[in-house]
Amino acid sequence: MKKVITYGTYDLFHEGHYRLLQRAKELGDYLIVGVTTEHFDEARGKVNVFDPIMKRIENVKKTGFADEIIVEDHDGQKVEDIQKYGVDIFTVGSDWTGHFDYLNQFCKVVYLERTPDISSTELRAGRYQIVRIGIIGTGRIAPRFLSEAKYVSGVNIDCAYNPEKDSAEAFSKKTELPVYSENFDEFLNEVDAVYIASPNETHYDYAKKAIESGKHVLSEKPLSFTKAGAESLYRLAEEHQVVLMEAVKTAYCPGFQQMINVAESGKIGKICDVEACFTRLANPNSREVKDAKYGGSFLEFGSYVMLPMIKLFGKEYEKIEVDSILDENGNDIYTKLTVRYKDGMATGKVGVGVKSEGNLIISGTKGYILAPSPWWLTKYFEVRYENPNDIEEFRPRFMGDGLRYEISEFVQKINGSESPSYKLTAGEAIAMAEITEKFMEKKLGYKADWK
Ligand code: CTP
Repeated sequence: MKKVITYGTYDLFHEGHYRLLQRAKELGDYLIVGVTTEHFDEARGKVNVFDPIMKRIENVKKTGFADEIIVEDHDGQKVEDIQKYGVDIFTVGSDWTGHFDYLNQFCKVVYLERTPDISSTELRAGRYQIVRIGIIGTGRIAPRFLSEAKYVSGVNIDCAYNPEKDSAEAFSKKTELPVYSENFDEFLNEVDAVYIASPNETHYDYAKKAIESGKHVLSEKPLSFTKAGAESLYRLAEEHQVVLMEAVKTAYCPGFQQMINVAESGKIGKICDVEACFTRLANPNSREVKDAKYGGSFLEFGSYVMLPMIKLFGKEYEKIEVDSILDENGNDIYTKLTVRYKDGMATGKVGVGVKSEGNLIISGTKGYILAPSPWWLTKYFEVRYENPNDIEEFRPRFMGDGLRYEISEFVQKINGSESPSYKLTAGEAIAMAEITEKFMEKKLGYKADWK
């Protein structure tokens, strides 16, 4: 009996898939079809797969060509499967020509002519209009956003805005994007959504204007310096029926979600303490260091350390203390946040002028989670216990620099995904703004009069 194997995502099942499976079956007597999991696709950079795996399997089954369906969930599995199932022929479409030649040492490799003019990518794009995003602010993070957006289907970065003419022109030259620097309304007219990556003190106003013009908003942190400010923006977004998301990228990284789930699974018992640290020494000429009012370590990195606290202990706290080491201009080069919750405690440390170990430690009554730097991308974490030899290691998948995950979430929400935004809820973002307000009051010595 000649066994054939083929693999694919089979999203939005189409004629190209059907014809491939038909010909694959004709190559032998028994056809095995490997269908990829969401996690595996994410790892390969396909972050917008539409159909859940059960539906994709069901669609392959319906063709009647597959004698056996398996799930593909890790790199290196093809070699394993070929040996395990005693496969004679491996086949895929001609878009992969050459890519799987290495499998020739295990079985015959056949590339079948790809059916022209159809792909899941095109079908996904056709389902929804491409979301046109404009970037506000053309500083350090804008180019990263641009390159990460390429991995997310269904979006296009159309233009940018920066009121400073020189920066606008330089960015436009480098990226070949049109950059508006005078008329903000004109810029807004060109897009469906904005990504706000401008200086901290401008986030609120840009977000407000964009929402009022009916645009979806993904804003860099901090969205607002006050609880009332954040609340009013979320209220406004609801009124205008647009998506508002704060770009705390950690919240959208798959590994971070997994770590929170593991922490809450009971593995480490009852969670008692969260310690999070994020420091990055900044260039002395950078805005973080120079801008005593709106720069500094807390506004830069505070969201990262607040996130695991709020995720694990919730929005209500009993007591909060925030203290900083200031430089000669009054800017916080190091800030420590201590929070007492009813059932636990948490510490967050951030620095732009002080260096420390960037760990996240979640302590429980039975064990603890240790996520080393860069835990905010969560590529790796461990569960440890009393017995020092008893260590469980987790290596979640992570691609690029993490921004693609938040962009993907943003686009899915814009396209009306029905799943609620559990990754970072409006309530959680507002809770962060509340703590930020406490910090600002302390740093500047007066009650916040801004939004
Ligand atoms: N395939 C094909 N003809 C097409 C599209 C896909 O023969 N027009 C083949 C692929 O080469 C692969 C299998 O179908 O062997 C499953 O492909 P998959 O990646 O699931 O489909 P695509 O439409 O290529 O998906 P995407 O656009 O997301 O890459």
